Amino acid sequence: MDLAKVDQIVESYGADKAAVLAVLQDIQAAYNYLPREAIDRVARLLELPLGQISAQATFFSSFSLTPRGEHIVTVCMGTACHVRGAPRVLAELEREFEITDGETTPDGKFTIETVNCVGACALGPLVIVDGNYHGNIDTAEVSTLVSAYR
Ligand code: FES
Repeated sequence: MDLAKVDQIVESYGADKAAVLAVLQDIQAAYNYLPREAIDRVARLLELPLGQISAQATFFSSFSLTPRGEHIVTVCMGTACHVRGAPRVLAELEREFEITDGETTPDGKFTIETVNCVGACALGPLVIVDGNYHGNIDTAEVSTLVSAYR
């Protein structure tokens, strides 16, 4: 893989060891996950033990060590969204993409994830696509919603 982007991110923080978390966040934003090669490179450039960086990457749930899709489709499965039909919305998304929760479509376009309450319960059932909130979604709207991101 081309690691030039990783080098640029590390340089943008002045190769400061204290900025390791920010570096990892920027790499995740650039690649949608933390590639193993990128973690190795960060360890080398910041002269930090690989184990230390790997531990941080696995500790924070916001980091993903497996490839994720170009678009992240997150379904809230918190109580308020659940009682308003989130399981049916999730099932419809899984049917639409032919994958299950946590998986990525074979073309690398979409990943389905679930989360437990993001504090927008009045909008339930809630689907978040690439950080954009779509509230009061029902199953009939799922296809239209995702087609905007295809
Ligand atoms: S339960 Fe979905 S936002 Fe709170």
